[in-house]
Amino acid sequence: VKNIAILTSGGDAPGMNAAIRSCTLAALHYGHNVFGFLHGFKGLINNDFIRLEEQHVRDIIHCGGTMLKSARCHEFHDEANQQIAANNLNKLKIDGLIVIGGDGSFFGMLALDKYYNGQLIAIPGTIDNDVDGTDHTIGFATAVNTAIDAIDKIRDTADAFERVFVIEVMGRHSGFLALNVGIASGAEQVITFENFKNPGVELQKIAEHIKLSKQKRGASSYLIVAAENLWPQGIEQLCIDLQNYANIKCTPCILGYIQRGGSPVPKDRIMATKMGVAAIDAVIANKSMIMIGEVSSKTVEVNLEQAVKHRKQVNGDLLMAQNSILDIAELAKINK
Ligand code: F6P
Repeated sequence: VKNIAILTSGGDAPGMNAAIRSCTLAALHYGHNVFGFLHGFKGLINNDFIRLEEQHVRDIIHCGGTMLKSARCHEFHDEANQQIAANNLNKLKIDGLIVIGGDGSFFGMLALDKYYNGQLIAIPGTIDNDVDGTDHTIGFATAVNTAIDAIDKIRDTADAFERVFVIEVMGRHSGFLALNVGIASGAEQVITFENFKNPGVELQKIAEHIKLSKQKRGASSYLIVAAENLWPQGIEQLCIDLQNYANIKCTPCILGYIQRGGSPVPKDRIMATKMGVAAIDAVIANKSMIMIGEVSSKTVEVNLEQAVKHRKQVNGDLLMAQNSILDIAELAKINK
């Protein structure tokens, strides 16, 4: 019988509960003990855990957030705390720890591995989808859905008033959310890390495109989806810059934390369930330092160090698709 622990860490993502549920149920099914550490790596340092039984996870598959709570544990950068955390796990005779989180949490696992005697298995859970070695992370599909739902509503007002809106979506280091959400909501522009040159160039491009669009379609709505953390001083400033540069009036709208919450869509529930079961299989097979991923709908095991080595890059075809539906050619003609 193995003692298996689970924790969730970093930004919560819809579907984390589904992963906790499947890890717990699969482990219990094979006769193992399950422990849930609370508040991510903080729970390891403070030895704050609960025993997980079937009744704790029975009705959580549809819930957003994480029943184990989460945290961004800055204390874990401190080597002394890494040792305390590992000692707590070693004393409790935890054979395997499953961490559900993003790349920041996985770096924590690399640190923990220096002192912890047991096995470490990662499950990618972040709305940003920026983890290498997996096509999708838990929570991404739901966050895309939530953002599209909100933007469709903004489109109604934008249409009614023939207004320009700049809508900020999350993803502080990566444009997966911005590009997918921008394409799926039919945004006229997407500004993301992957296509951003510098504020001067972008301002000119956006202003010209808005004007071109007005020339071709008359007054109409115009939506710009922008990744957070990109425009210097934020999207409010982008609106001010557009006003000053080209006398274009636009309204900023930050979607914010609504993208992190809510009931997970089926894709996230199902993928999280498959990943949870695969994580337990890996613990039983005495594997360690791997991440469970999903590639072409198949569950895979990836070396954890490989997974954190590079941030996953947005697929070129997404960028191509977005660029090809903008009237870039028309714009180039006008600019000549
Ligand atoms: O990592 C997920 C994420 O939602 C990012 O998209 C966002 O930049 C960040 O978390 C916000 O973090 P916090 O909850 O610490 O403000």
